[in-house]
Amino acid sequence: MYDKNHPETIRKMFGSIAKEYDRGNAVLSFNLHKRWDNALIKEILVPKHPQVALDLCCGTGDIGLTYLTQWRSTQSAPCHMYMLDFCPEMLLYARQKAFQSGAVKHRLEFIQGDAQAIPLPDQAVDAVTVAYGIRNVKSPEKCIQEAYRVLKPGGRLGILELTKPKNWFLRLGHTLYLKTILPILGKFVASNKDAYRYLGSSIQEFISPDEMEKLLSANQFKHCSQMPLMGGIATIITGTKA
Ligand SMILES: C[S@@+](CC[C@H](N)C(=O)[O-])C[C@H]1O[C@@H](n2cnc3c(N)ncnc32)[C@H](O)[C@@H]1O
Repeated sequence: MYDKNHPETIRKMFGSIAKEYDRGNAVLSFNLHKRWDNALIKEILVPKHPQVALDLCCGTGDIGLTYLTQWRSTQSAPCHMYMLDFCPEMLLYARQKAFQSGAVKHRLEFIQGDAQAIPLPDQAVDAVTVAYGIRNVKSPEKCIQEAYRVLKPGGRLGILELTKPKNWFLRLGHTLYLKTILPILGKFVASNKDAYRYLGSSIQEFISPDEMEKLLSANQFKHCSQMPLMGGIATIITGTKA
């Protein structure tokens, strides 16, 4: 039903759950996503406090807004933060949240666009983040190439993705969660039950962190590494543009 080779089906699916997306995330991840988001922010954005940053597949804007309101000092220079997503409903909620937060003192730019064809010039940004987004993109490699193109030399890409743990015991529990508990919980939090079935299968079918790290290296990124979170339920994969 939802197929990333037919991106329109994915866009519509995210549109149908945009209103309840934040609540659904909190329930289904037992709020662990906030911890993982902060790990990505600390790894990619906090060390250099970029002047210009891009959050791909931004959804309702959690990565950019959390960084700007909780990690960026009020004393520091304003950040130019691009937030890109192909789903207009998600961007609507991101805009609303931005206005309610203190982030508007920064320069926020919302872009409705495709993460595989970023409408920015070469070497435009200091850092790129993608949280829980790349596994939904038809060609993750194209997205990585585009991130590379828009990064300035020395800039970093950080991908946070839900992944399968390597340990067989954890992996068994994880599969059980995705196949049985997630669809049941999804029934309570979501109006669109099939969306949460897709969520589980998209995690199981996606490439491993090792393969993702290789994809970064194969596309010119240097110093590539991965950081498993909670035994590998989620992983941050990073690379630097030389
Ligand atoms: C699971 S949500 C993640 C949202 C957000 N990054 C977060 O941390 O909660 C995935 C997002 O990726 C977006 N997306 C999927 N494919 C995309 C593409 N090709 N280009 C831009 N956005 C895309 C969806 O619209 C959705 O908002």
